[in-house]
Amino acid sequence: MTKAVNVANPFPDSIKVRVQKLMSRMGLDEKIGQMSQVNGSGGWINDHLAWSLRESRVGSVLNEVNIDVINELQRLCVEESRLGIPLLIGRDVIHGFKTIFPIPLGQAASWDPEVIRQGASVAAAEAASVGINWTFAPMIDITRDPRWGRIAESLGEDPYLCGILGAAMVKGFQGDKLGQAGSIAACAKHFAGYGASEGGRDYNTVNIPENEMRNVHLRPFKHVADAGVASFMSAFCDLNGVPATGNAWLMDDVLRKEWNYDGLVVSDWESVVEMTVHGFTKDDQSAALEAVTAGIDMEMASSSYIDHLEKLVADGKVTIEQIDKMVARILSLKFELGLFENPYIDPANFSALLNDEHLKVAKEAAVKSCVLLKNKEKILPLSKSKLQSVALIGPLADDGFEQLGTWVFDGEAQHSITCRRAIEELLGDDVKVNFSQGLDNPRSTDHAGFAHAIETASNSDAVIMLVGEEAFMSGEAHSRAEINLPGDQEKLIEAVKATGTPLIVVIMAGRPLTIEKVVEQADALLYAWHPGTMGGPAIADLLFGVESPSGKLPVTFPRMVGQIPIYYSHKNTGRPATEDSYVRMEDIPVRPPQTSLGMTSFHLDAGFKPLFPFGYGLSYGAFHYSKITMSHSSIVIGESIEVFADVLNTGEHVAEEVVQLYVRDLVGNVTRPVKELKGFKRVRLVPGERERISFTLHTDDLAFFDRKNNLITESGKFHVWIGGSSEASLWAEFEIFGKTV
Ligand code: GLC
Repeated sequence: MTKAVNVANPFPDSIKVRVQKLMSRMGLDEKIGQMSQVNGSGGWINDHLAWSLRESRVGSVLNEVNIDVINELQRLCVEESRLGIPLLIGRDVIHGFKTIFPIPLGQAASWDPEVIRQGASVAAAEAASVGINWTFAPMIDITRDPRWGRIAESLGEDPYLCGILGAAMVKGFQGDKLGQAGSIAACAKHFAGYGASEGGRDYNTVNIPENEMRNVHLRPFKHVADAGVASFMSAFCDLNGVPATGNAWLMDDVLRKEWNYDGLVVSDWESVVEMTVHGFTKDDQSAALEAVTAGIDMEMASSSYIDHLEKLVADGKVTIEQIDKMVARILSLKFELGLFENPYIDPANFSALLNDEHLKVAKEAAVKSCVLLKNKEKILPLSKSKLQSVALIGPLADDGFEQLGTWVFDGEAQHSITCRRAIEELLGDDVKVNFSQGLDNPRSTDHAGFAHAIETASNSDAVIMLVGEEAFMSGEAHSRAEINLPGDQEKLIEAVKATGTPLIVVIMAGRPLTIEKVVEQADALLYAWHPGTMGGPAIADLLFGVESPSGKLPVTFPRMVGQIPIYYSHKNTGRPATEDSYVRMEDIPVRPPQTSLGMTSFHLDAGFKPLFPFGYGLSYGAFHYSKITMSHSSIVIGESIEVFADVLNTGEHVAEEVVQLYVRDLVGNVTRPVKELKGFKRVRLVPGERERISFTLHTDDLAFFDRKNNLITESGKFHVWIGGSSEASLWAEFEIFGKTV
């Protein structure tokens, strides 16, 4: 294989000039070829693909991960096509490549941008080492519906948290500069509104008023666009009657004209031709026209561009200027990635996959992603010195595949360290570990294993149960109508509980689950999401106090499915529920007079509160908040205010707390949420240590889109809270003066 000649040019042209020079030599067919992304053949190159590369009919290949095949794909383009334009090689590196990190929803529970950046950086280095130069992540769809399978892939329900963590993931993937060794281009997806799919059913219709789009769903995308994400991907969904992939308001008015974003936009898988299935276009040619008109630079997987764009240009329906703008964005990314200078990959230039450093980063991410939801009488952390034996029971106690979670294409179960292995290694000969599967798998209703599980629990000093969802139960196209523990896992928990042995439950899942009964039965409950390759060692260290849990929920946990959508930053309504709203039907008197139950917004059989609120999470410390003060009681638009509070660790263990800042705009040009996250900081305090935390709020941080969808900052009164969850109670009030801007 001949190396690309890399002659140092003392006065290199700018990328813009290099693009212009190259495009001046390209024929229309070659330009359209750049706009086409095709699926790899999976480990080999079929004749049609080889021919297409030589004929410059392909700009990108996705789903090829064999380094020799990728180098050959690049060689066919660079050395056997007329202009030698290298390929973008795309892959869904969503939460790791070979070293698998917690699912993104789990990583979001760390509320730690640095942890997320490091994870993405490891993923990028591993992916780049085989020749991948473009990942389809971060997924930053806002969703408040845990029935939706892709909540697992998201960074939670809050636009502010999602934007910050999404930007951290972009930084991890792309490094300080695109093209630096071990970095790959990131892709913000799915633009936009996909997380509000009706009924939580994937690919379903989305109807979101523009004001809600702007105040909620678009915010994280704007944040990562400003953070320099290299590309965007259009969503599958029909947004307000216009599929996102053909939605000029989204792709042109907002993304290009308002945000001045000039990165590459790729469609989702066949989402261009699916516009005909939507009933938005009549055939592939009209689908191609709508997508190009909207501004989709590259078509993923389907071939309407390569099949119809030349004719659309010849018929005058698409101009060559439109094509040139789109192709320029594709070529610019290739130049920025350095692909023209270095199209080939030499694995010797990269660190080994799954190396100790990568596994260490993955373990830290898993430790910080786990959320402690209950710890009755401080049963956790368990102490080796106080235990003779511990029972390890459940279908997920020793399953290295399921713990990896959804969207894992290249990670392998064989590399996982399960809870069973990690706990046995941690306890060594000091404590006897009695393992019992209990159920064959999480969906099983076969109780054949119950007797052994019960006996094992009865003969142990404590029980650790590992239950939850299989990896396939969340992710794309995998939504659930019920979100309880599958199979007879609840019955297994009940049976083990009945032995009276202290019960610690660890749940692995791709979404919040309706686990109220499990919470009641467990003495302690740790939510581990799907924790990835190093999930076992992370959970072991947390349960036995080597680490203290510090995760906070990035998403609200409903008590029952009927409460969905349920989220913290809801509007107040004209009749907000009250603390005395009924929670259980059985508490309601017989024949209650019609208006006696409170004419407010609640469910007769569920009340209005979630099982666990956004931002909630316990630790082995105990954090108390006091003395909230502000630098000013009022400010003028354009100024900032400092908000302070004391945090004291009254617990017996050193621990970390994610301190959160929430704000409420009491009166707005449109109704405003009862709380909105506007800041968070992680602090580490030893027992008895107090720290005075401060946050700075600028009036710009309080801007929102008004009823005319203009971004404004208004005067008026605001409440501010500082605390350890969205149910923070320590609050203060300040006022903003000045003319609305
Ligand atoms: C899928 C997903 C998208 C992914 C793409 C490539 O259908 O919707 O998130 O990046 O296709 O695999």
